[in-house]
Amino acid sequence: MKIVETVAEMQHLCRNLRTENAPLGLVPTMGALHAGHLSLVRRARSECASIAATIFVNPLQFGPNEDLAKYPRTFDEDCRQLADEGVSLLFAPTTAEMYPPGAATTISVTGIGDRLDGASRPGHFTGVATVVAKLFHIAHPHRAFFGQKDAAQLAVLRQMARDLNFDLEIIGCPIVRDADGLALSSRNKYLSPAERTEALALPRALRHIQQSIASGERQSDALIQQGMQELNRVKLDYLATVDAQTLLPVSTIQPGTLIAVAAWVGQTRLIDNFLVENLPSS
Ligand code: PAF
Repeated sequence: MKIVETVAEMQHLCRNLRTENAPLGLVPTMGALHAGHLSLVRRARSECASIAATIFVNPLQFGPNEDLAKYPRTFDEDCRQLADEGVSLLFAPTTAEMYPPGAATTISVTGIGDRLDGASRPGHFTGVATVVAKLFHIAHPHRAFFGQKDAAQLAVLRQMARDLNFDLEIIGCPIVRDADGLALSSRNKYLSPAERTEALALPRALRHIQQSIASGERQSDALIQQGMQELNRVKLDYLATVDAQTLLPVSTIQPGTLIAVAAWVGQTRLIDNFLVENLPSS
């Protein structure tokens, strides 16, 4: 696996990798890789002739009081895992390379970018959209792979790619969970054993809602109330039923509804969700 630090070299190498009959897949990450990230790489490998991954802890998507400084960095181990998974190219730029002095352009995806996590983390999705647009311009992938755990991010990036006419396909990949149900996240590393147990309230709340939907409940208010019963020991940010594409609230569950939750467990903010794909007939 070749590790590249400059935009110019990454552009040059991607230009050579990309041909019409040999699709290039891009897996953008902030490192601290876990099995969820590796599932994106495997999906990319199953669909693309070559894979480029990126590791860049993007300062633009962190708020002033967030965890940029302590965000886990496990670069050597990440490289080993990516190479083992067949990644041919890794882009790992410095902050100065991505945002040289004087850089003045950002991408705000208005409306949708201020919903869910965008509401509680002002500017977060502008940071995400800006860095991902830059990565798309640098690598020109045919397909880019993102986790469904960050469902709001996925919706914002799809909107951004549509609005800016990026000629690529965005692929959302299923959430990967630990055996106890906790969705994998690089931030799980922050949790003490007691907090990790508390964090299980998030998947439990979602399962409770899923079971109620399976039993015929369709009203968002009732489902949210049921989910809330599981969440009294965490500091809830949101538990919401929204349209998965627009992130606007829905009052009646239907295929395409996203049930999303965000909460702080101790100092750690965790998110989780599930997408209603089809409804059992009641
Ligand atoms: O999901 C992430 O890890 C980040 O938000 C991303 C897409 C790599 C942009 O920095």
